Amino acid sequence: MTYECILTDVRGDGPRKTGLITLNRPKQLNALNDQLMDELGQALLAFDADDSIGCIVLTGSERAFAAGADIPTMAPHNFMSAFKSGLISKNWETILQVRKPVIAAVAGFALGGGCELAMMCDFIIAADTAKFGQPEIKLGIIPGAGGTQRLPRAVGKSKAMDMLLTARMMDAAEAERGGLVSRVVAADQLLNEALAAAETINGFSGPSAMLIKELVNLAYQGPLIDGVNVERRYFHALFGSDDQREGMDAFINKRKPDFKHS
Ligand code: HXC
Repeated sequence: MTYECILTDVRGDGPRKTGLITLNRPKQLNALNDQLMDELGQALLAFDADDSIGCIVLTGSERAFAAGADIPTMAPHNFMSAFKSGLISKNWETILQVRKPVIAAVAGFALGGGCELAMMCDFIIAADTAKFGQPEIKLGIIPGAGGTQRLPRAVGKSKAMDMLLTARMMDAAEAERGGLVSRVVAADQLLNEALAAAETINGFSGPSAMLIKELVNLAYQGPLIDGVNVERRYFHALFGSDDQREGMDAFINKRKPDFKHS
């Protein structure tokens, strides 16, 4: 399979290997557009179905895991087009169907949908350069792929509110203190560390790993999906606002937004 927005590789020497997926839109800091998310979904499902693969590692570049959903693609939407197309939902949740462990290896920016994508993985290993944030409020929108639901579960309400409301970024050390990431390593060791973790898991029983994943998610998620569904409706609704138009236009034209709060 050839992909344009991601790279795939198989790593490891043991009988069970690691599927490595690298987000690859470097000029846009791996901004997540439909094509990338379609390709990511296909690659994830292909590795999940391949008996020689035990674990999947998802990574980006040194500069960015992903700087969020692709803003110019979202900018023209209105409420009805966002709602009817299911803006973003159809190919964003494929990762949740994957039964094998998925490790996010994050360096640089993991913002908006990039942070949400990392949080949909089973655990996050961060480079000391990683920066996490949910800056959607700056664009006159809100997270649309679980950010308001998963972030508080990961770091607690206060830190989540702080990040979501002020749009500030969290560095790797703060993310580790808050419990968003499981470990922080030197940037040049990120991939090795994630692949080594995957290799360890590959050496254990595959069904045990799949069941652990399923059960931890059960403990963690509860009625999460209800929150995510409500979040998506409001995410769509904000494409009917003036502030979404202003926020995205200001980003695209590299100027400061002038919000009217409408
Ligand atoms: C499209 C993006 C982008 C994005 C960056 N770029 N983020 N393109 N969508 N989300 C592009 C820039 O336009 C620029 O292209 C190039 O990547 C490099 O970015 P710069 O801004 O020049 O780099 P820098 O000054 O280092 O700033 C990096 C940054 C900033 C802090 C990450 O780019 C930024 O704030 N990006 C937006 C982050 C954001 O708001 N994310 C949330 C999106 S909404 P050119 O062509 O100018 O070189 C979201 C909703 C999810 O994710 C909903 C899910 C359902």
